[in-house]
Amino acid sequence: MEDNEKLIGKKREKEEKEEKEEKEEKEEKDQSQQKEENDKKEEKSHNDGQKKKKGKKYKKKEKKNTKEINEKKNEIAWQKVAQQDDKQWKNEKFEYYYTNQFTQFFPTREKFEELLSKLREKLPCVFRLSKAHPFHEGYQKMLLDDSYIKSLLGDQANLIKIELKNLTSFKEWINLVYNININRMELKKNDLLKNFHKFIQFGVDGGVISRQEAVSMIPPMLMQTSSTDKILDMCAAPGSKTAQFLETVYENYNFLDKKQYLKDTGFVLANDNNHQRAYMMVHQLKRLNTAGMMVVCHDAQLFPTLYNTSARNDKLFFDKILADVPCSSDAVMRKLPIKWKKWSTKEGYSLHKLQIQILKRGINLLKEGGVISYSTCSLNPIEDEAVVAEIMRTCSQNGELEILDVKYGFKDTDIIPHPGLKDWKVMIEDKNDKNKLNIIKDMNDPLYLENKSLISPSCFPQDDIKNFGLEKCNRFFPNDSDTSGFFITLIKKVKNLKNEEIDKNKIVKPNIPEPQKKNEEERAFRFAQETFPDKINWIKNYYGIEDEFPFGQLVTFSNICKKINFASLGVVNLLKLDKDQKLNIENAGVKLFKANKQKNENAEFCLYRVCQDGLMYLLPFMHKRIYFVDEKFFIEVLSKKEIKHEDISDEDLKKKLKEDKPGCIVIVNVKNKPKENEIKFETENERMEYNNYLKNNFIDAFCCHNAATRITTMINKEHQHVFELKYKIENILNDKNKK
Ligand SMILES: C[S@@+](CC[C@H](N)C(=O)[O-])C[C@H]1O[C@@H](n2cnc3c(N)ncnc32)[C@H](O)[C@@H]1O
Repeated sequence: MEDNEKLIGKKREKEEKEEKEEKEEKEEKDQSQQKEENDKKEEKSHNDGQKKKKGKKYKKKEKKNTKEINEKKNEIAWQKVAQQDDKQWKNEKFEYYYTNQFTQFFPTREKFEELLSKLREKLPCVFRLSKAHPFHEGYQKMLLDDSYIKSLLGDQANLIKIELKNLTSFKEWINLVYNININRMELKKNDLLKNFHKFIQFGVDGGVISRQEAVSMIPPMLMQTSSTDKILDMCAAPGSKTAQFLETVYENYNFLDKKQYLKDTGFVLANDNNHQRAYMMVHQLKRLNTAGMMVVCHDAQLFPTLYNTSARNDKLFFDKILADVPCSSDAVMRKLPIKWKKWSTKEGYSLHKLQIQILKRGINLLKEGGVISYSTCSLNPIEDEAVVAEIMRTCSQNGELEILDVKYGFKDTDIIPHPGLKDWKVMIEDKNDKNKLNIIKDMNDPLYLENKSLISPSCFPQDDIKNFGLEKCNRFFPNDSDTSGFFITLIKKVKNLKNEEIDKNKIVKPNIPEPQKKNEEERAFRFAQETFPDKINWIKNYYGIEDEFPFGQLVTFSNICKKINFASLGVVNLLKLDKDQKLNIENAGVKLFKANKQKNENAEFCLYRVCQDGLMYLLPFMHKRIYFVDEKFFIEVLSKKEIKHEDISDEDLKKKLKEDKPGCIVIVNVKNKPKENEIKFETENERMEYNNYLKNNFIDAFCCHNAATRITTMINKEHQHVFELKYKIENILNDKNKK
């Protein structure tokens, strides 16, 4: 009787468990259906030219939806994984596949189990300080200040460890990457970590730090780019590696040096063929406030050729190219646990050809002597070595390409690179049992003939591969240093290829219909000074901008000049090369001016306000509507966000603000406030003196609106947050409240 009850109990337990799993599966399915529907909706709205109409709100919601759905999906998958016992944490096909591929790295079952068990753990939270951000050193100090971190963590302080993680030995990247021994989700969800999470989140939003998986940071680190490099990131969204390039380009940029813009000849051209992801990337990169970036939307394998001059042989080549290609992502199971369930050989085979095409196109676009980095977050040799081998086979018959040995770049680091394979197995699911794999011996094997449409000959390790130097490829395993897995190969174009295929690709602009007009606005790229000289003149007079300012670098994507971006010299040159408008541009440069909405005719109206994003590019050239203040007042405005003129104790300042026309102003925190009559800009000498004054005294600046009776800050919450951290404004406010 007792046994019977036990049996019934167990049965019920099993049924409940199955029901729960079914429910979760349905939830997961519903969510991915919803995502698909969302994607379709976006596509449709795009094709219908409705994109603009739905406007920002729609996109923001869409972006949030997709992100939230993905996060939730992963969380559900993790919960499932956590509920399952060890047996269900398995994918026998995956295990069979990789024990066969990686015997040299995992000679025993015990060793292979190390890899599997690491794949079952969530990833730690890793982030990188951006050397290009003026506050990165201050942020680092806060991070390393035990008492400050303890004040954020309270009782949790003993549980959280922040550790330096050096990924390469190149000095440019030393002491910038940190590992927190907690996964991202917990950091976000755990209420006890709320203050610490806020500290990290403020750093991310303000562009001081970037959260990114450790091994994914490696390609730009190895590529050692410089500020004059023309860089193409072929498959760039969500833009974490693009951000790294921008960090190196702007690492030593001195905004207060008026000649600096002349040196800004490099650029980072970020491409992604997914319109929605490219759009989101623009927002990601905006955090960095840099003029040297441009985002475009093309199929990377068909990326258009640009010409330096009208001569057909004078093509634009890039110095450095990153091909971080779409892949099956089985090396990031720690982030995408769904892979435990869904792994199959098919994904790798179906992406193999596209990966070859993208890498080939990249090599075509690379200058002689340039370097291209090929990477995947897949462990699969079909997507890794087989792709590199095919490129060496077809493009480097006479030593045109060389795989670079970069192992020295990992000396004394936390990272272990494993050499690329020179032999691997081609396998396929058994026709009758999808959970079983069969090895295809070679191209004479009947199994190959059966699967010829899926598996291309280049998937096989052919005899010629021993000469390609595939051992110089690098594979990273998750169990070595608590990361994801990753594969990266750097290839140098030693000499130009004989038959560059460039113009076979007569691609060009994807056929995206013009968005329907909302009011009179339309999206169209233009150089602002050429097209809207009156508006630029107004800006010049209103803000007292010197002639020396590079007005030719102001660009707009609106036919009514609603927003004006400042693009670096490198980006401007690139835009000029796009005479035939082949590029499908999402964005370029950094936002500098934005039109204010004018409700009634008023000659005094401030037509354009200065945007905080690009303010630093303008500041050394701007002589009107600037207010130099001390730190006390600077912090007071920032913390209160609004101050009435009558509450300002500095009489001179109050008078000046009252007398000045209402409109945008810039508040500058300086070490020594100048006397009103000390600043003059009439002669060359006076302007030089002014610039020297700025160089010696400038601390920070932000944009404000000066109304008839008060001033109000005009910065977004991300900029506000960085200032809050920097000046510990919250502490000041709290202290004040306590008193
Ligand atoms: C591995 S992700 C890139 C990650 C990115 N490099 C980063 O570090 O943030 C691959 C990207 O390639 C894009 N993609 C897929 N097929 C593409 C193609 N044919 N051309 C260009 N981009 C493509 C996807 O939309 C996806 O954003």
